[in-house]
Amino acid sequence: MNSPDTQNMELIHKIQNIKQQLGTSVVIPAHHYMPPEVVAISDFIGDSYKLAVLASKTDAEYIILCGVRFMAESAAILARAGTEHPQTVLTPDPVSGCPMADMIDAIQFKLLITMLQKKLQKAIIPVTYMNSYADVKALTGEYNGSICTSSNAEAIVRHFIEQDKPVFFTPDRNLGLNTAHKLGIPDRKVFIIDKTGTIQGEGNPTEGLLFIWDGFCHVHKNFTLHDIKRVREQYPGIQIIVHPECDPEVVQAADASGSTEGMYAKLKNAPGGSVWAVGTEINFVKRAATEFTDKTIIPLKESLCFNMARINLEKVLASLESILNHKAVPDNPLKFKLSVDASVKSLAEKALRTMIDLTGKSQ
Ligand code: 13P
Ligand code: SF4
Repeated sequence: MNSPDTQNMELIHKIQNIKQQLGTSVVIPAHHYMPPEVVAISDFIGDSYKLAVLASKTDAEYIILCGVRFMAESAAILARAGTEHPQTVLTPDPVSGCPMADMIDAIQFKLLITMLQKKLQKAIIPVTYMNSYADVKALTGEYNGSICTSSNAEAIVRHFIEQDKPVFFTPDRNLGLNTAHKLGIPDRKVFIIDKTGTIQGEGNPTEGLLFIWDGFCHVHKNFTLHDIKRVREQYPGIQIIVHPECDPEVVQAADASGSTEGMYAKLKNAPGGSVWAVGTEINFVKRAATEFTDKTIIPLKESLCFNMARINLEKVLASLESILNHKAVPDNPLKFKLSVDASVKSLAEKALRTMIDLTGKSQ
């Protein structure tokens, strides 16, 4: 039997071969949490924001997005439609979901926003984390809100509350609370909406600025104050950087926080010899440690996103082969084409483009 490395080499060789045949008609973006062998065959890597923007700018006819389904879906929402040069987005594994995105659906979203508007007696603007599905993104557009990612949540929320518009933030409680903290929004103006729809907080909801849904990411919930204490004791002088999906007390006890792209840049540019503990998905931490060998980079704790880990070389190869087969005989199915219903696509695109416009303005 071949060793995993030999198998990977064979798969990488086959993938490169088909990529060469397809030329610029195919592009393979990969999220920072992809395993190293998938990063190796990708055309570019990035956080959710960068992937969405770059995917929207590419001319390629086929985009094979190596990340979880909501990322591929966002690329499909921004992709060119119509009959002249339409773009097709493929996901190597349609089952690669995100448990956090599953924590809010369109029915709940509509019920909650209606309940809040009634309670507040004024319009409330939805700001929806990229980690959500197309129907929830579409409702965000319908209610004149915006998508955000961990790299721009602060700028997007600020934009609305500066106009005195209260914000309904879904689905990640931690990103919502960490954003409120960064913006200096007083606790009495911040409310959590629990699974029963109950509004929890110290102040009067009618004076609230930020209403946050109670979703979470199990990968980032894993990191605790105890982990921070342990690495600080073990490595005096260590610096700790974490993703803003971590609990607020963990983010506040760390030295820095940021999106995957932000953390990657920070580690890359850190002085040689510095020592870092990183609180995010383990494949990211391992790759940073391998790439930036002039620093010591360790995981704050090993935490795997098993949905991201579902994407592998075999599945990427199958997607590429399906493009070749489909080009030869159009009836041959693509593995796996992501289609977003036209009515959902236009409203979801509105919400995504609002984010891109607002982020552009704030930079
Ligand atoms: P980024 O936007 O920082 O890449 O995060 C995406 C994600 O799913 C983190 O869990
Ligand atoms: Fe979803 Fe968490 Fe995985 Fe990110 S790390 S894709 S939020 S489950």
